[in-house]
Amino acid sequence: DWTPDQFIESTVEELRTQIGTDKVILGLSGGVDSSVAAMLIHQAIGKNLYCIFVDNGLLRKNEFEDVLHSYKDMGLNVKGVDAKDLFYTALSGLSDPEAKRKAIGKVFIDVFDQESHKVEDAKWLGQGTIYPDVIESVSVKGPSATIKSHHNVGGLPDFMKLKVVEPLKTLFKDEVRLVGKTLGISDNIIGRHPFPGPGLAIRILGDITPEKVAILQEVDHIFISSLKKTGLYDQVWQAGAMLLPIQSVGVMGDERTYERVVALRAVTSIDGMTADWCHLPYEFLADVSNEIINKVRGVNRVVYDISSKPPATIEWE
Ligand code: XMP
Repeated sequence: DWTPDQFIESTVEELRTQIGTDKVILGLSGGVDSSVAAMLIHQAIGKNLYCIFVDNGLLRKNEFEDVLHSYKDMGLNVKGVDAKDLFYTALSGLSDPEAKRKAIGKVFIDVFDQESHKVEDAKWLGQGTIYPDVIESVSVKGPSATIKSHHNVGGLPDFMKLKVVEPLKTLFKDEVRLVGKTLGISDNIIGRHPFPGPGLAIRILGDITPEKVAILQEVDHIFISSLKKTGLYDQVWQAGAMLLPIQSVGVMGDERTYERVVALRAVTSIDGMTADWCHLPYEFLADVSNEIINKVRGVNRVVYDISSKPPATIEWE
């Protein structure tokens, strides 16, 4: 029967034989899959694995710094790349969800290509592809679709010409988590909720500005930390907040306010294909709502999304 220890042992052995003394490039996202793939390849070839972690300015609050730190603690040879301004510039004025996804995908490919050129004589591209990615069309929204539409216009980027190494290709998500745990990766990375590649850009309805990102990061941070504090985080498959493109009237002291509305979303799911909204305790929702409205300037109303998928999707864009 399958065990994580035996999987690790045989995979590391195969990777060593396959890669030899070649250099491998791998893009880390902060998610479970890329992190576990990186650790497996790292065990096989050490510093010849060159990891690249891009800050697109659309991550959760403090996420880039925190995760980069964890990666370094894990001994990974990782380079953090601050590309926030490139992403914000490319997104400027875009409101259509697919246009935003495309713009983000294109900048990511450009940044990643440029960074990978700095690794001289790399032969392989490491990827955290897991079995469901191979068999399903979920990836229609993922990097492969963006890469396709990009390369129709500009030609295949060089890193796409590298040989691909995908050590998790036969595993399901729960197996990836077991392997990660066995490899000693922290619960903070192994247990984290899925987070979309385009990040907060598809949770800000309408156009993206750094100010809106900052507001949503604060709201999201309060929601997610509260889930963690109350022990609810692990019962939820995915959670986050949406910044709505409308304002509503409120009152503060004896002044009327006209400020932003945020929607909180938390779902249970097995694979993201279907999902139920979480019946979070009213007391919890009340506390989170109060904290958001009291602490985040510019937000005067919080609503909770009670739609399931289908027909509603998990994200709002
Ligand atoms: P939906 O909104 O389609 O989301 O119910 C299902 C799962 O996919 C994630 N998602 C994305 N992930 N790029 C990604 O890498 C995307 O463009 C994207 N759109 C949605 C979403 O967070 C959920 O986990």
